[in-house]
Amino acid sequence: MTMEVRFLGHACFELSDGDTTVLIDPFLSGNPKAAIAAADVAATTILLSHGHGDHYGDTVDIAKRTGATVVAITEIAGEIGEEGVDVRDCNLGGTAKFDWGSVKLVPAWHTSTTPKGTVSTPAGLLIHFEDTVIYHLGDTALFSDLQLVGKRAPIDIALMCIGGHYTMDRTDAVEAAELVGAKTVIPCHYNTFPPIETDAEAFKSDVESATGSGVVVLEPGETHST
Ligand code: NI
Ligand code: MN
Repeated sequence: MTMEVRFLGHACFELSDGDTTVLIDPFLSGNPKAAIAAADVAATTILLSHGHGDHYGDTVDIAKRTGATVVAITEIAGEIGEEGVDVRDCNLGGTAKFDWGSVKLVPAWHTSTTPKGTVSTPAGLLIHFEDTVIYHLGDTALFSDLQLVGKRAPIDIALMCIGGHYTMDRTDAVEAAELVGAKTVIPCHYNTFPPIETDAEAFKSDVESATGSGVVVLEPGETHST
């Protein structure tokens, strides 16, 4: 089955098989690199890595419009659930199951507060979408337990922050790519704002010479098909 991974800008991705659309970290309004308006995006399920505004973004508005279920860590799910949105409130290590697959929340080294002030723990998202395993690392620093994720489930596609300043930079991300061991790495969380400007093509050549992973650099709006 063909699955499409569409990069919508910053850390926002849309996974789709034509029937199901899984939207990750939908920061579109106020995102200078957004490929689509929040009002035009589709979603069956929305997955949130953490509460920062550049990830939480338009989650509530899109969920209300589409009826999508939102998966987020317990504290954030509680806040969003109060808006009348359908939520799944996993915590780290927990898995939410759907008819299209599942998502497990895994550790990420970062901080997390929602725009409303709810403090929580950030996560990475290990997604089984039909037959494809996608690992969105969330916002994270480099840490050695990244390798445990790929050990539990061989990763087809890693969606990896490389911009530095708020997360690991592109040189630490080369080591992260080695630890994760994905077939394909798609970089994100760079060039949205001046502090996170970086060279994605240099990341690509460094990863491809140092690891067994291939890197696909997507411009906002571009799609990678499996
Ligand atoms: Ni963040
Ligand atoms: Mn971020």
